[in-house]
Amino acid sequence: MIAAARKLAFEVLRLVEGGGYAADLLHHRGAALESRDAGLAAEIVLGVLRRQNQLDFLIEHYLGRPATRLDPEVRILLRMGLYQLRHLDRVPAHAVVHDSVEQVKHAGKRSAAGLVNAVLRKVDRAPVAFPDRAIELAIPGWLLERWERHYGRETAEGMAQAALTTPETYVRVPAGKEPAQVRLAPTEVPGCFRLLEGNAAGLRIQDISSQAVVPLLDLRRGQTLLDVCAAPGNKTAQALEAGVRAVACDLRWRRLAAMKSLGCPLVAADGALGLPFSARFDRILVDAPCSGTGTLARNPEIKWRLEASDLVDLHARQVRLLRNALQRLAPGGRLVYSTCSLEPEENESVVVEVLGGTGIPACTMEKYWRRLPGREPGDGFFGAVLHSAGFCERRDDSLASELLARMESAFGLSVDPKAWSAHGRRRSPAATASGGPLGTPSPCARRPRDAAGSAAGDPRRLASPLPAEAFVARLTA
Ligand SMILES: C[S@@+](CC[C@H](N)C(=O)[O-])C[C@H]1O[C@@H](n2cnc3c(N)ncnc32)[C@H](O)[C@@H]1O
Repeated sequence: MIAAARKLAFEVLRLVEGGGYAADLLHHRGAALESRDAGLAAEIVLGVLRRQNQLDFLIEHYLGRPATRLDPEVRILLRMGLYQLRHLDRVPAHAVVHDSVEQVKHAGKRSAAGLVNAVLRKVDRAPVAFPDRAIELAIPGWLLERWERHYGRETAEGMAQAALTTPETYVRVPAGKEPAQVRLAPTEVPGCFRLLEGNAAGLRIQDISSQAVVPLLDLRRGQTLLDVCAAPGNKTAQALEAGVRAVACDLRWRRLAAMKSLGCPLVAADGALGLPFSARFDRILVDAPCSGTGTLARNPEIKWRLEASDLVDLHARQVRLLRNALQRLAPGGRLVYSTCSLEPEENESVVVEVLGGTGIPACTMEKYWRRLPGREPGDGFFGAVLHSAGFCERRDDSLASELLARMESAFGLSVDPKAWSAHGRRRSPAATASGGPLGTPSPCARRPRDAAGSAAGDPRRLASPLPAEAFVARLTA
């Protein structure tokens, strides 16, 4: 008989190969199993996905030929067997080999039973010399390379290693609602607790970094809040604790419908096309759809699916979402743009592109905020806090220059300001008259800098190219 946990793990890994999401599949299909079996299935599935390229290297190491030449069922069962034998302590080796051989037969690959048996019997825990850092850290080479360029070798290694660990569980506990059935440890984020022991059923499970976003909004009782990408509602629920009047918006009605118990208005809308509100809001949260590279420990399949070119589409959608959201920000209001991505194209460059564009209300960048896996507890997250003053005191060219310098060193990219204006940006008469390369200056740039002078007299106004499009140009090249 094959253990229920291994049966489920194989089923889920097959579905993930077909495009499914491991966490969702384990949640739904694991509900029918005893919690111990469901736990082991999750450990196998997530462990295999976290170390996929490393396990494929080990298959080749023990088998003598590449894993890619094997049937998918055989490859998955070898990955599962190898992972259990090398990384799990509480599973007997003979049970792993027995079940793997039986599973390959059940999968209709009887002819591979001997091969699976022979490979798994060779597996031990002796250290193996991996051929490169990407396989040693179980991450695609291109992703490691870009993290190293952006964050440095040591930090990138910490981020990759964090993606190989089982994440801690954090729960949201609003003041005065302390649950009795669990043992919790407080964290630096108010209302966020680390689960030490007990069953979290009935509690809102939400990563600590996700819980750290809402405080950036600096919410006050009675303020209006528009949550543009709200579902499944973790941050809306957290914001409601502050006594705000929230409107929750999302592209997907079914995901929104699950938020009915929060008791706030729910609006299905494509925020990238426009937002169906005439009102302006005191606070806006754009928790944008993103690649999720900050959540690889939780969603390890992302790292094998994502391609650099995906960041171009994501960037374009994020720019539209942020631009449309800013239209609805009240003067004096605050907007937080956040993602659980570690990629600058989805973070700083979205903000820089939107703030440098035309037709948005004047606003300033108050700060960037970031949590990196391995450096701070929890997932990786990015946040930008934007402030609408009704007018913009200063366009933050130092920010643009800093980002440009980082991109230049990361990509070996050099941006020619002349090429910039040829990159599809409209030239306004004002910009042309000033001889500037950037095209239409943003409303921010048109505002006087101080009572004595005007932005028109400031050479920095048009002199520094906006780096966001340079990223995109580079990625589409
Ligand atoms: C990162 S999730 C939001 C998580 C949520 N803020 C929370 O804390 O529970 C991104 C959400 O954006 C939604 N979304 C994607 N594209 C959108 C669009 N064009 N307009 C509005 N929402 C969109 C997705 O359906 C998804 O629910």
